[in-house]
Amino acid sequence: MILDQTISDYLDSLRRPADPLVAEMEAYAADNGVPIAPRETAALLAMLARAAGARFVLEIGLAIGYSALHIARALPDYGKVVSLESDMHLACLARTYLARDPAGARVEILLGDARETLPGLREIFDVIFIDADKSGYPGYLDLALDRLRKSGLIVIDNLLMDGRVATGRGDDHWSQGSVDTALALNRRLAGDPALDYVLLPLGDGVGLVQRRAAR
Ligand SMILES: C[S@@+](CC[C@H](N)C(=O)[O-])C[C@H]1O[C@@H](n2cnc3c(N)ncnc32)[C@H](O)[C@@H]1O
Repeated sequence: MILDQTISDYLDSLRRPADPLVAEMEAYAADNGVPIAPRETAALLAMLARAAGARFVLEIGLAIGYSALHIARALPDYGKVVSLESDMHLACLARTYLARDPAGARVEILLGDARETLPGLREIFDVIFIDADKSGYPGYLDLALDRLRKSGLIVIDNLLMDGRVATGRGDDHWSQGSVDTALALNRRLAGDPALDYVLLPLGDGVGLVQRRAAR
């Protein structure tokens, strides 16, 4: 949590009850220690995809399909989420959950290490969500910029890491290596004149990246 408890409690009080499938996935993740995006991050992704008129979305890091489900529900019938996952057990669980929702048919799961599967993708995506191993983030960002529609959007999760990134120090949960990677990435994104970058203190720190429009 990166917000103070009072603000966090207030935001929680505004949450609508989750639908049964979303609630079940949240409970599974909490009970089994599967890291999924906070509900507000998933809701933001869905809203951004809808606002961008997205048809093709790439997700790096599927887990049990929680954020993929939110995004898929925001796409038109002919839309598609391609989601990359290296853990076969999680990918199977995701398949099972996604099969229970009509939007789940829009999610295509690519099993394997994203460092190998991502370079093979030829599609151009409207929105790309990066949410896998933190050490891979710099490489995923390079490939994502290469596969992004001109005015598309890259969303990157965990760029504040419980606030550890702002202090510059890792802890038992966020390793020093992960914190250093996030620090370098934030510096790179904020300093790149070819990109617009907004880092939202929402969820665990959500980075929004877009190519800067020519003026
Ligand atoms: C934070 S979880 C993804 C959560 C998901 N986006 C959500 O919010 O519902 C990160 C996932 O990335 C997967 N992962 C880690 N390294 C990977 C890699 N090199 N290639 C593909 N998937 C990877 C992990 O197995 C894990 O399921």
